Amino acid sequence: SCLCRWFDALLVVELRPMRKPDPCVLVIFGASGDLTSRKLIPALYEMRAIGALPEHFKVLGVSRREKTDDAWRAELAASVQQHAKRWDAGRWAEFAKCIHYFAGDAAQTAMYSGLEERLRKFDEESSTRGNRLFYLSVGPELYESIVQRIEDAALVTEGKRRCSINSSERSWQRIIIEKPFGHDEQSAASLNRTLGRVFEEEDIYRIDHYLGKEVVQAMLVLRFANTIFEPVWNHRYIDHVQVTAVETVGVGNRTAFFDSTGAIRDMIQSHLLQIFAFVAMEPPTAITAEDIRAEKIKAVRAIRPTTPETVATHGVLGQYGKSADEGAYVDLPGVAKGSTTETYAAIKLHVDNWRWAGTPFYFRTGKHMAKKCTEIVVQFKPPTANLFTGIPHQSGKVLGNRLVIEIAPFQQTRLRFESKVPGTPLSIASVEMQADFDKQFGVEALEAYGPLLIDAMRGDQSLYKHRIEVESGWAAVMPFLNSSSATIRKSIASNYAPGSWGPAAADEMMSRDGRAWHNE
Ligand code: BG6
Repeated sequence: SCLCRWFDALLVVELRPMRKPDPCVLVIFGASGDLTSRKLIPALYEMRAIGALPEHFKVLGVSRREKTDDAWRAELAASVQQHAKRWDAGRWAEFAKCIHYFAGDAAQTAMYSGLEERLRKFDEESSTRGNRLFYLSVGPELYESIVQRIEDAALVTEGKRRCSINSSERSWQRIIIEKPFGHDEQSAASLNRTLGRVFEEEDIYRIDHYLGKEVVQAMLVLRFANTIFEPVWNHRYIDHVQVTAVETVGVGNRTAFFDSTGAIRDMIQSHLLQIFAFVAMEPPTAITAEDIRAEKIKAVRAIRPTTPETVATHGVLGQYGKSADEGAYVDLPGVAKGSTTETYAAIKLHVDNWRWAGTPFYFRTGKHMAKKCTEIVVQFKPPTANLFTGIPHQSGKVLGNRLVIEIAPFQQTRLRFESKVPGTPLSIASVEMQADFDKQFGVEALEAYGPLLIDAMRGDQSLYKHRIEVESGWAAVMPFLNSSSATIRKSIASNYAPGSWGPAAADEMMSRDGRAWHNE
């Protein structure tokens, strides 16, 4: 019955009519990395458990170290036991048969002919039909060279070199690229150009695991399958929106990566701007990848460029100080001496379009914060004419309606409204209505990567990012990363205590605007 409930869960996340994934080989570059063992393989195992994988399916992990298929399977088994929701030795053994390993240096041309041969053998023995899903789970510095080598080795036969007319027999080659997608606007554009020379846009899957999260997609349903939200979903009724993703963990052993990345690149440019796009977009014409992406692109492009003069009042950066179990960020091994990389960032962006003019969006992310929480807070304006001035209110004043859409750790939506306190004399209190996804539907959320991988095998890009979205996202955050950020970047060392809600300056930024962060 557990399995049935999992399957129901898949149906819930399914926004589009089910199309079966095609037979294929998933080629993972960076097979020995953390992402592969902690996320990708456990997610595929879950997908197999609910019968969502194609019947003819192979995983080929590519990495430098020599290793047999069996040795890799044993390593993965240990990790799946730890990270998948259910462990069943028999089911794993069955699934593990489709997992293989190929030793080679992806940055060297030499290995690609062997790789090609191995893939061809799969096609012959396992009916994978020449369909390849390349997954770049390597350091971003290797992306372009791997794409180039895939091209040189003629592993891409679709797209530009498409010649077959009979589409039912045509094989496809697609590529999934992990974040960080570029380091800034220019490098993202350069990576897009390289990809575009080898793959068609329809075969490029820029992944963002936040788009696999249940509530991000549920946003579409909340907004467009109801009548009561959309009419007030604009600057006339909404005072501001907060998009928050904070974590209790520090940077852990990812210091080298994190110190050259920082919270804005790691979280805001990617995940938080994607959440924003679903909140801010216009209704798509239909629930298709093209229509959804067209509207998301428009929303991200409407973000007003922050001028160098306004960076200081629109952004606050921070670095966590020392805690009981970890040193201050600047003192961690692997962090450059005197590093000014932010582990916390809060930024305010305006959206210049008819729907949102004058309604700011606040974005906030941080490591070592008071709690783990990913949420969207939509704060409505108080009524224009307040009949109840002078009537006692439990919290001192009418607060305005508030919709909180919690994405993690709990999936729930809460709506606050004002209510009369029973009895006399007349007094008012805020109350909340709550819909809890887990309780309501009795299903656990699936690992976000699973449904996303299946989508790529079905050729559905709805939940993947378009080239323009990524580049516009970079344009929106660049002022907080380039030289104009110098003022908010200096003296950030240890400006917030681990376990707190971030630097005091972030609260000041909000109170200057007459607002407050939702720290509940
Ligand atoms: C990753 C970031 O993309 O997302 C990490 O690189 C972050 O720094 C993680 O911890 C958060 O993901 P989730 O799903 O736990 O909210």
